[in-house]
Amino acid sequence: MQTTKISKINAQTKLCALIGNPVKHSMSPAMHNAAFDKLGLNIKYIALQVEENQLKQAIKGLKALNIIGLNITIPHKQKVMHHLDKVDLFAKKIGAVNTILNKNGKLHGFNTDLQGAIMSLEEHTVVKNKKVVILGAGGAARSIAFGLKQNKAKVIILNRTVKKAKKLAKQVGCSTMKLDQLDSIKADILINATSVGMHSNTDKSLATKEQLKNFEIVMDIVYNPLETKLIRLAKQAGCTTITGLKMLVLQAAASFEIWTGKKPDIKLMQKVALKKLGGTK
Ligand code: ATR
Repeated sequence: MQTTKISKINAQTKLCALIGNPVKHSMSPAMHNAAFDKLGLNIKYIALQVEENQLKQAIKGLKALNIIGLNITIPHKQKVMHHLDKVDLFAKKIGAVNTILNKNGKLHGFNTDLQGAIMSLEEHTVVKNKKVVILGAGGAARSIAFGLKQNKAKVIILNRTVKKAKKLAKQVGCSTMKLDQLDSIKADILINATSVGMHSNTDKSLATKEQLKNFEIVMDIVYNPLETKLIRLAKQAGCTTITGLKMLVLQAAASFEIWTGKKPDIKLMQKVALKKLGGTK
């Protein structure tokens, strides 16, 4: 079996880190370390579990230690914004940061979740002017909705809790419909931005095969299992499908580029993530 060669740690090694809670199942260390090694960069990536009441001290410490890049995950994506020197316009609009660049001691925040979603879609279509249905109105739906709006797509948000859908739609500047109106919608793209279909819940899909026949492209943010019920039904309905793994890899690639100014080997990152998830393709 081919394994990725891990370069040695020495006195010049730079550090990147993920902070969140929990972090121990994260795919990011494996993906980034493989990509750093592939480009011969003397950088290592580690995952650090940080409690909510320790966030401020953690960021101060990471700055003092000159950690060059950070990923931020649940539950810190919103609160971390208070501790940064500069926040990118879209991260500000979304209200969440998942990537930080330490540039000469100043911390700049970005949100690459939206790039992961848009780049995944743009591998198959031009997003501009496309009609896109987003299922969900949580943090993930929020990044995707803002990203799509920025790229001039026509977005419709459907969520179990209608009040949340309306609130998000107002902020993004798009429309909403009820989940039970899915039967009557025909659009270019459908995106599941809810947790429905995830490992503990694999027999569930918010859309039926019949409903999915009204869409060209179906994307799921869920990457565990690799093929969700939604993706399986979408394939049966003849749709082009995009898995959550693709989005995960492309958001990581966008973070990598922010830290290093270099494009990582995306195929390698995907292979590494796939292996960790137990996939073979
Ligand atoms: P995240 O930040 O990952 O998006 P979140 O903010 O908790 O997580 O949002 C989860 C989304 O999945 C919400 O849109 C939620 O719907 P509600 O706003 O009605 O809670 C949606 N969701 C979770 N479980 C669901 C289910 N069983 N059926 C429908 N929607 C569900």
